[in-house]
Amino acid sequence: MDKLLVSGGRPLVGEARISGAKNAALPIMCAALLTEQALKLDNVPRLMDVRTMAKILALMGVEVGSQDDGRLELRAREIKDPTAGYELVKTMRAAVLVLGPLLARCGRAKVSLPGGCGIGARPVDQHIKGLQAMGAKIDIEHGYMNAIAKRLKGTRIVMDVVTVTGTENLMLAATLAEGATLLENAAREPEVVDLAHCLTAMGARIQGAGTDTIRVEGVRSLSGAQHRVMPDRIETGTYLAAVAAAGGKVRLSGAAPDTVGATVEKLVEAGARVALGADSIEIEMEARPRAVSLTTAPYPGFATDMQAQCMALDSIAAGTGTITETIFENRFMHALELQRLGADISIQGNTAVVKGVERLQGAKVMATDLRASASLVVAGLVAQGETLIDRIYHLDRGYEGLEKKLSALGARIARVR
Ligand code: EPU
Repeated sequence: MDKLLVSGGRPLVGEARISGAKNAALPIMCAALLTEQALKLDNVPRLMDVRTMAKILALMGVEVGSQDDGRLELRAREIKDPTAGYELVKTMRAAVLVLGPLLARCGRAKVSLPGGCGIGARPVDQHIKGLQAMGAKIDIEHGYMNAIAKRLKGTRIVMDVVTVTGTENLMLAATLAEGATLLENAAREPEVVDLAHCLTAMGARIQGAGTDTIRVEGVRSLSGAQHRVMPDRIETGTYLAAVAAAGGKVRLSGAAPDTVGATVEKLVEAGARVALGADSIEIEMEARPRAVSLTTAPYPGFATDMQAQCMALDSIAAGTGTITETIFENRFMHALELQRLGADISIQGNTAVVKGVERLQGAKVMATDLRASASLVVAGLVAQGETLIDRIYHLDRGYEGLEKKLSALGARIARVR
C-alpha cells in the first residue's frame, strides 16, 4: 500500500494551482440524474471520490465520459436501475446524494445506508425526513433505504440540524417536485450555492441558496447544461495552513478567495501576511506562527474540514491554542498521531488544548481520515527528519496531486511503497 514520505524543514515557495472542489463536484454529478440530456462539467478534480461517484452513476445506466483535463460529461438518457449498493456507498458517504434525484426522476430508489465513519456517527435522518415530508415512502430494509414516491410534492421543511449534503439532497429532489419547497435552516456552504448555479443552468428555479432559507419552485423537466465546478476551498485552506506552518511565500491560483475568510482570518492571527486577488491568494510567513484558538461551525464559521490542519499549525506555534470541534463528535483522531510526532495536545471532551512545541520530530504515523491525513502532511513538512504517513488512500479521496503540488513548492515529499 502506498505511503507518503515527508522530510521536514524546507519553506514552501512558488505557485500552486487549486483544483475543483470535491464537495461541489459530487452533488453536481448527481444533478445529471435529473435530466435525460447531457451535463457537461469542467474543473472536475481527479480524485478517488469522483471516480467512485462515476462508478455508482454508471451502474445505474448513466453514460459517463472519460475525464479529460477536468472535463467530464454525464448523460442519464435512461436510468435502468435506481440503486446504489453497499459496497460503493460504504466507501463514500456522499453517495447518499443520489437518493433525492433518483426519487424525483424515477419515483423509486434503493440506496444503501452509509453507516458510521471515522469522524462520527453521521446519520442521514434529515435527508429521509425531508423526502418523507415531500410525500416519499421510505422503508429501511436489510441496510437499505427503499424509497418510492409518485411525484414529490413541494412543502415547508425545517431541518433540525444544519446539514450540507442533507440540504443538497432535498434541493436536488425539489427541482422536479410539484409546487414550491421551502428549506429552512438550510446549509449556507458555497458548495450548496455552486450546486444551485448548476441546477439553475439546467432550468431549475431556486432562490436563496447561500442563505438559511432556500425556495425551490418545482418544474416539469430539466435540460442539460454546462457548468464549471467551483475551486476547492478546503484544498486552498490546506496549502495556506502548510505555508503558515513551514514558512515561505506561495501564490495559489484558480482559487475562490471569498470562500476562505474564516481560515485566512486565523492564519493572519497566526502571523501570516495574506493578499487576496480576484481568483488568487498570496501568503507569506517568515516567523514562527503564534498559536490560534478556534471553534468549528457551519459556514461562514470556521470549517470542520480545516480543523485538523490548524491543529498541526498550533502544534509548533508559540503559545497555547484551544480547538473546539462542534460538528462531528469524533474528529480528533489526528491528535493522537500528531502526539507521535511530539505535539503536546490534551483532549477534554470536544476541545483540544494544543501547547506549541519548538519542534516536531519525524515518525511513522497513520492517516485516519481525509483531513487528518492533510494535518499529518502539514506536520511532516515542519518536523525534523522523516515522517512516513501510512494509509494515504484517505488523501487520494480528496487532494488532487498533493505530493506533486508540494514538490513543486520545494517540499521533499514522495510516494513510496
Ligand atoms: N447530521 C444529522 N442528520 C443528518 C445529517 C447530518 O444529525 O441527516 C449531523 C451530522 O452527524 C453532523 C452534522 O449534522 O454532526 C453536519 O453534518 P453534514 O450533514 O453537514 O455533513 P455531510 O453533509 O455528511 C459535508 C462534507 C464534509 C464536511 C461536512 C461539514 C460533503 C460531501 N461532505 O458532509 O466533508 O465535513 O459537510 O461541513 O460535502 C471532507 O471533505 O473531508 C468532509 C468530511
